[in-house]
Amino acid sequence: MLLICNLIFKQVNIISTDNYDIRFKDDGYDHLKKLIKTKSYSKFFVIVDENTKEFCLTRLQEKLSFKLEIIEINSGEINKNLNTCIDLWNNLTNLGADRKSLVINLGGGVITDMGGFIASTFKRGINFVNIPTTLLSMVDASIGSKTGINLNSIKNQIGLFSDPILVIIDTNYLITLSKRELRSGYAEIFKHSIISNSNFEKLIENPDLIYDENIIANSIELKNKIIKEDKHEANVRKYLNFGHTIGHAIESQSLKQKNKLLHGEAIAIGMICESYISSKIKGLNTEVTDKIKMHLLKFFSKVKFSKSDISEIINLIKFDKKNHLYTPKFVLAKSIGKMEFDVDVDENLIFESFSYYHK
Ligand SMILES: NC(=O)c1ccc[n+]([C@@H]2O[C@H](COP(=O)([O-])OP(=O)(O)OC[C@H]3O[C@@H](n4cnc5c(N)ncnc54)[C@H](O)[C@@H]3O)[C@@H](O)[C@H]2O)c1
Ligand SMILES: [Zn+2]
Repeated sequence: MLLICNLIFKQVNIISTDNYDIRFKDDGYDHLKKLIKTKSYSKFFVIVDENTKEFCLTRLQEKLSFKLEIIEINSGEINKNLNTCIDLWNNLTNLGADRKSLVINLGGGVITDMGGFIASTFKRGINFVNIPTTLLSMVDASIGSKTGINLNSIKNQIGLFSDPILVIIDTNYLITLSKRELRSGYAEIFKHSIISNSNFEKLIENPDLIYDENIIANSIELKNKIIKEDKHEANVRKYLNFGHTIGHAIESQSLKQKNKLLHGEAIAIGMICESYISSKIKGLNTEVTDKIKMHLLKFFSKVKFSKSDISEIINLIKFDKKNHLYTPKFVLAKSIGKMEFDVDVDENLIFESFSYYHK
C-alpha cells in the first residue's frame, strides 16, 4: 500500500547552495532557460542511459525547446568506470563540444556522478546540470558536488568536487522507476532522518509511506545544510557516511557477485551493522538499534554473507579512501541525531555486527 503524506512536511520551492540552486519541476526548467540566455552556450549535450532515454528524455525535450545532442551510455554501476568516461569524452569531441558547451546529466547517480566527472575534466572543465531521475540521485547523488567513478571494484576511487550550475528535481521521472530502485533511494532518506533526528519516529511508524515532493525536498535540505557547513568533508559532512563504511564495502563486494546489490540496499545493511556497533561502543539504545533494523528489514530482504564474504568486506573497508593508514574509521550514533565521526572499530566487532544483522 502506498500512502502519500503531505501533512508533516513543509513545502520547499528553491534550495540554495553556495554556488548553485536546486529547483523543482517547471521552475527548474524555466531557470535553466534563463541561465542559457545569459551564458551563450554553443551546444547542449544530454547524457542518458537506455532507461532514461526511453522514460525521461521525451519529457526533457518537451520542457526545453532547444536542440539537444544525445549521448547514450549503458546503464548500471558496473559501467561507472574509466572506459565509459573515454567513450563520453570521445563522443563529446566527435560531436564538436567546446569550452562553451553544456552537459546535462539526465539519470540516476551513475550518470550524475560520472557525467559531472567527465564534464569537469573535459577541456579543463565545462558547465553541467544535474537532472536526477531516481529517488536516490534526487536526495543524495546529484547534490553535494561529489563527482567520480569506480576503479576496478573500488567505489568512487577517482573523482573531484565540482559544482553543477543547477540541479532540477522533477518527481515526474519517478513514475517509471521500479519499486526496488525507489526502496534503494529510501535508504538515504532514512539515513538523513537518523543523522538529523528529523522525522525518525514518523518514518518508523509509517513503513508504507512513499515519498512525495515535500519529503524529498526535506531530505535534500538536510543534506544541503550539512554541505554548506562542510563541503570538503573535514568534519560534519562525514555524518552522511553513516552506514557507508560497511555499506560501500558490501556494495563493492557485490559488484563481483551474480546478485548485485543496489547502493541503497548495501547501505541499509551497513546502517544495521553500524547501528549495532554504535550500541556496543557509543551507547546507542539497543531498542533504537532494533527499531532501525526492523524498519529497514521491512524494505530490504536479508542477504546471507558467508565468513569469507565478511572477510572480503573487511579487507575492502581497509582500502576505503576515507580511512587513514588502513584503520577503519566509522561514523557512529550515540543517539538519533547525535553522531560521532572518525571512530576506530575493531575488526572483531565488524564481524559481530554481521551476526546481529543475520539474527
Ligand atoms: N555523489 C554522491 O554524493 C553520491 C551519493 C550517493 C550515491 N552516489 C552514487 O549513485 C549511484 C547510484 O545511483 P542510483 O541508485 O540512482 O543508480 P543508477 O544511476 O544506476 O540508476 C538506477 C537504475 O534506474 C534506471 N533509471 C534511472 N532513472 C529512471 C527512471 N526515471 N525510470 C526508470 N528507470 C530509471 C537506470 O537506468 C538504472 O538502471 C552509485 O554509483 C553511488 O555511488 C553518489
Ligand atoms: Zn549513499
